[in-house]
Amino acid sequence: MTANKAQSSGKAKVVPLRPPTGPTRLSGKFAVVTGGSKGIGYAIAHALASEGANVVITGRDLSTLTKAAAQLRKDVVGPAKILAMTCDVRAPESVGRLFAVIKRRLAQIDILVNNAGIGQPPLPLLETSLEMWRGNIETNLTGLFLCTRAALPLMKAGATIVNNLSVSARHVFPQSYAYTSAKMGALGFTQTLRQELAPRGIRVMALLAGATSTDMWQQIMPEAPRDRMLNVESIAQAVLYAVLLPANVNPTEICLDPASGAL
Ligand SMILES: NC(=O)c1ccc[n+]([C@@H]2O[C@H](COP(=O)([O-])OP(=O)(O)OC[C@H]3O[C@@H](n4cnc5c(N)ncnc54)[C@H](OP(=O)(O)O)[C@@H]3O)[C@@H](O)[C@H]2O)c1
Repeated sequence: MTANKAQSSGKAKVVPLRPPTGPTRLSGKFAVVTGGSKGIGYAIAHALASEGANVVITGRDLSTLTKAAAQLRKDVVGPAKILAMTCDVRAPESVGRLFAVIKRRLAQIDILVNNAGIGQPPLPLLETSLEMWRGNIETNLTGLFLCTRAALPLMKAGATIVNNLSVSARHVFPQSYAYTSAKMGALGFTQTLRQELAPRGIRVMALLAGATSTDMWQQIMPEAPRDRMLNVESIAQAVLYAVLLPANVNPTEICLDPASGAL
């Protein structure tokens, strides 16, 4: 029965809100999101997959990762395939294994989102332990270096790298020695990388977001006001917009602050 006939016969006309296959502006693309098992990484993986990209999410905890992958497969309408692989971005062997599997199964990476990261509670220098220092530097800076170096041979002109840094890469978060040092170093890495890869047509973007409501705040400052923070979906939306811009446009820095101002 046609829609007109359905209307004239008095029956309700059912109009799908969106095509059953979902939007596919990234259909056929391959994305890797480190730390995609929760928080900002999960939201970015969700946004990319919702546009049809096949997405690999990673994290250390297998149980969280498996649940996240199952949730993505359930939520995302369309052709995207979701793969989940454990990887500790601090460990060269672990990163090597991840990208060897990606090379074998996907052959190429169109979008790399270096997102895996940890935070720290604010502490005076004399109370900042070597363990906390190393944890932040190895995860937030060395991890970025290791993953990018392993992914690069699988990337070609038109590809995009998004490094999830923080406003802390520009502005000091008081008494956050390890986190601030790692993120400022990561901005230096990002700018150096952008310069090298621009002639090859690979875009490198820095994501500089302010306080965002995720589990990380349990480590940083559990009492911080969640209602004044950004939410992960807004960040994912901004990253998606940036990635979808024409390949000859590079939004080098995606700066996002809560509209009510910094915490
Ligand atoms: N929340 C904020 O206010 C905020 C603001 C600006 C920027 N950021 C940045 O956003 C990124 C994500 O943070 P989030 O707030 O979404 O935190 P989150 O909810 O705690 O998620 C962190 C993710 O990183 C993974 N991860 C942590 N250490 C890892 C390691 N060594 N190897 C592999 N994966 C690891 C975690 O999985 P496993 O623990 O299972 O490994 C998890 O998937 C971080 O780089 C953070 O610095 C956060």
